Amino acid sequence: MSAPLVVAVDGPSGSGKSSVSKAVATQLGVGYLDTGAMYRALTVHCLHHEVPLGDAEAITAAAEDFPLMIGTDPDAVDVLVGGRNVTEQIRSSEVSSVVSKVATVPAVRELMRRLQREMMDDIAETAGGVVAEGRDITTVVYPDATVRLLVTASEEARLARRSKELHGHAEADAVEATRDQIVRRDAEDSTVSQFTTAADGVITIDTSDLDFDQSVQAVLAAIRSVRPEV
Ligand code: DC
Repeated sequence: MSAPLVVAVDGPSGSGKSSVSKAVATQLGVGYLDTGAMYRALTVHCLHHEVPLGDAEAITAAAEDFPLMIGTDPDAVDVLVGGRNVTEQIRSSEVSSVVSKVATVPAVRELMRRLQREMMDDIAETAGGVVAEGRDITTVVYPDATVRLLVTASEEARLARRSKELHGHAEADAVEATRDQIVRRDAEDSTVSQFTTAADGVITIDTSDLDFDQSVQAVLAAIRSVRPEV
């Protein structure tokens, strides 16, 4: 029997990596881990307990005692913190605009990376495989994954996609309103992880000119180039 399939996917906001990773996990019948959702859930936890987001030590203390439950079935990805369902709240603009403050604390990243690696091993073992996505999965969390992918797209394509998600269209005003959520946030996140160019051995999939189904097929093809039997 071959080792469980571990697929690591990194990429910037709006590249399509979350929806594509989820669909790929569903098609392969394996588990899924959204590591960005973990940073978002920790942000909700900090906001709930009024932890000052400029205080790295206080955020780290909150991360050490963080009652997180996260769905690992790609079709049921509920996120609970202390028993409270925060699945919708973690996607709010309030959380999106401050999550980088939590995700750029080095000690928090240490804790989260260890937890993410353990969770990926657990999911891979119980579900026969895992697709995990984030910013540093291919480089730091799981550099020895079976398949490592960088799912990316031009800034223009990423802005248009996120603008459609948030505002229902990609007219100029909506694109400008979305810029902070994509460009400023990625610039902040880039100070602690490298997700704009592929590290050695990482396969780049540029989805700028691909629709959703084509992106899923491109990722599946890349996985099958390494593991033809899946
Ligand atoms: O992918 P996302 O927008 O849900 O990520 C939320 C935040 O967490 C974003 O600021 C990037 C950060 N993140 C990270 O630093 N490392 C990861 N592995 C995943 C997300």
